[in-house]
Amino acid sequence: MNSQLKRYLFWFAHEHVDFRLPPYWIVDLPDENIVHQIVSRAISIRFCLELWAQGKQNEDLHNSLKAYSVKNIIGEKRSFKIAVETFCKHFSQREKVDKIESFSYLPLEGPVKLKNPDITLCYIEYYGLDPNSIPEQPYEYFFGRWIADGQRELIKKLSLKTRKFIGNTSMDPQLSLIMANQAQIRKGDLIFDPFVGTGSLLIAASQFGGYTFGTDIDFLMLHGRTRPTRISQKIREKDESIAANMHQYGMSSYYLDVVVADFSYPLWRTDLRIDAIITDPPYGIREATERIGTMKINPVIEEHQATSHIPSKIGYGLNQIYKDLLCFSARHLKLDGRLVCWYPLFRDQYTEEQLPAHPCLELLANSEQVLSNYTSRRLLTYKKIKEPKATDESIIMNLTDFREKYFALREETRKEKRTRKATERARRREEWERSNKEITER
Ligand SMILES: C[S@@+](CC[C@H](N)C(=O)[O-])C[C@H]1O[C@@H](n2cnc3c(N)ncnc32)[C@H](O)[C@@H]1O
Repeated sequence: MNSQLKRYLFWFAHEHVDFRLPPYWIVDLPDENIVHQIVSRAISIRFCLELWAQGKQNEDLHNSLKAYSVKNIIGEKRSFKIAVETFCKHFSQREKVDKIESFSYLPLEGPVKLKNPDITLCYIEYYGLDPNSIPEQPYEYFFGRWIADGQRELIKKLSLKTRKFIGNTSMDPQLSLIMANQAQIRKGDLIFDPFVGTGSLLIAASQFGGYTFGTDIDFLMLHGRTRPTRISQKIREKDESIAANMHQYGMSSYYLDVVVADFSYPLWRTDLRIDAIITDPPYGIREATERIGTMKINPVIEEHQATSHIPSKIGYGLNQIYKDLLCFSARHLKLDGRLVCWYPLFRDQYTEEQLPAHPCLELLANSEQVLSNYTSRRLLTYKKIKEPKATDESIIMNLTDFREKYFALREETRKEKRTRKATERARRREEWERSNKEITER
């Protein structure tokens, strides 16, 4: 290791595991400031340690810790505590204290202070990732000085439980914040969500200083007039809205507005340039995938109907949605700007080749969130690499209609369940009749 560099251990939360390194990351950095910069945005990182010692055996850990020059760092009168962290195995408080006592050779002369000590030292035992096969001894031991925590308290701050306005499809805060990070949102960026719903992604984007706006086809949703989502709530409060949420989190100055609009129709000036688009398009499972249109040939709206006319809607297939989304992003993102969006699929049919593509967008990241035995959705991150030519088109390879297959499979599973139940009922009846007959014959 270069003598200018120090070794750091970043410890990740064991959640959304496909979205981060498993479960720790060791890296040599020239400066502790870089650690602070990393954790200032990190949602999946729990904490970072200056790594003093590590080993595959307990003895190796202690030997390498004894060789580490800790005296100058700890100082004589500084208060301290030692925290014990075990991954994939639980220990009682007594067992943890025993582990702490094994470090009694450290020159810790200051007082022990459990709340806000000058120095927090951390001992970690790592028992692997599989809770069904936990080894007797850990795979790896670590010891170091705590430097900083990640931003996981934001997940609590933005919790849907305490948010004023939510809907059935509101995105959970952890994933919303991860999306904002994937989009590399910086203070002052212009951020758009074309399928904005209750605006969860705008909140995450504004948390990092993005100026946010969105569109949604659902007039009632944007006006906070859909049925309440909370079981305890009978009717929506008068002021439920995305603007009210922004106000709740002190982000009003970062909120531009939302507009009721159908994404399939061009709405914006052609020279509009956006820093990032983050969105969760409708999959047609919990919400309709619709666009304005009619199957009528030559429809006519009479003049007297014009002011009160509510346009009819037709289906907006997933393939078309992603085709439009990628084309829109290629046109309206600035160069290097990012599109971050979810894409639902059947797990057994997944191949990277069938993900939506566009000649002006480079796919940078692709992480899976499993939804059920059959289905998952993938968080796709694209970067705009060039301006589109008039002939550039999105390439959509996935020929399976997710929505159609989802409902067909659900119907099939229900049918199977009904048949199984009927067979079981018939078997029990037969058994009952047989035993009845035996009793009468006796
Ligand atoms: C999965 S939800 C988005 C949820 C949102 N991320 C949130 O946190 O509340 C998809 C949204 O797309 C909207 N939508 C469906 N078809 C649309 C269209 N043609 N144009 C614009 N929005 C549409 C739906 O009304 C729904 O609110």
